[in-house]
Amino acid sequence: MTSVPVTIGMPRIGAPQSPDFSGESGPLRDTHGRIHRDLRVSLTDRCSLRCTYCMPEQGNEWLARQSILDLDEIERVARVAAAAGVTTFRLTGGEPLLRKDIVEVVRRLAVIKSPAGPVQIAMTTNGIRLGEYLPDLIAAGLSRVNISIDTIRRERFHELTRRDRLDDVLEGIAAAAASDLRPLKLNAVAMRGVNDDELVDLVEFAISQNAQLRFIEQMPLDAGHTWDRTQMVTRDEILAALSERWQLAAVPGRGGAPAERWTLDGGPHTVGVIASVTAPFCGDCDRLRLTADGQLRNCLFSTTEYDLMPVLRASSTGDVKDIDAGIDRMLRSCVHGKLPGHAINDPGFLQPARGMNAIGG
Ligand code: 5AD
Ligand code: SF4
Repeated sequence: MTSVPVTIGMPRIGAPQSPDFSGESGPLRDTHGRIHRDLRVSLTDRCSLRCTYCMPEQGNEWLARQSILDLDEIERVARVAAAAGVTTFRLTGGEPLLRKDIVEVVRRLAVIKSPAGPVQIAMTTNGIRLGEYLPDLIAAGLSRVNISIDTIRRERFHELTRRDRLDDVLEGIAAAAASDLRPLKLNAVAMRGVNDDELVDLVEFAISQNAQLRFIEQMPLDAGHTWDRTQMVTRDEILAALSERWQLAAVPGRGGAPAERWTLDGGPHTVGVIASVTAPFCGDCDRLRLTADGQLRNCLFSTTEYDLMPVLRASSTGDVKDIDAGIDRMLRSCVHGKLPGHAINDPGFLQPARGMNAIGG
């Protein structure tokens, strides 16, 4: 099977060519020298919340059930990715805990071996029902968790997520805080006129949970396509607000991590900022994405997807080796097609057709 990238939406200039990757081995190195070790696996596009910056209240077009990868398919892709040097699987959504087989997904992925080192299983969740699942997830091999929380004010939470479920999220955070999973990260999208008056409160809340808060600049990924640059709270504004309360000192050694970090009053607590828009970190990106419906993506903002479904489900290619070889070729094709960086700041930027809930954070 050849690896055919599918351009969704408008074709992009410089869309990837697909050489034949048969027989290629070694790490997933792209044409800009970046080695890919992190695969973000979206397990569902569904969610228990409806954050305004992510999904519309109504009119969502959900992925069809039969197009969602099952446990065996996810495991198969993960095994091939690990053999090619992927060492982190981050489970995302939508909300990954809505997957009924979530514990089994973790169990299957956690035992995979990679020649590049031990495999880590991380999860990004909205925290709802995390308390209930956590003991089983940890027993299954979960290593880390990131929980999204944009406000700790009840009314505001209800407005922002369109669901009155702050208490459920706080319960999930408390459970994670009481566990040994560290570092525990809390993610907050900073939004003007929505939560930009509670940045300090959010950090203090994270400290009370022995967690690290990371502010994320709002990105043009909302399903409603309502993102507006002028509404965005920038990294510098976030740092200015926090500097009123704490002395910030940059933590060196960021590596490929999306977040820049600062110690608060000399530490040990830190705060992070993920400045995807005003200070992009594409040069060190080691991430690939797999959508719940079997599309490989080399960037959050890419308009190109690499469809694994024909490889995974072709009735003609029953041979396990053929399927694995097909997945490997598709991974390499996807990595090969990766552009040096996203183009959010270009005048001609096109938002991907999928919303964040259908790509995976
Ligand atoms: N911009 C920035 N962050 C976003 N997230 C979801 N949509 C956006 C967006 N448009 C965040 C979620 C979660 C993580 C997966 O990504 O809040 O913390
Ligand atoms: Fe759900 Fe996350 Fe989207 Fe909020 S941002 S609606 S928690 S997928």
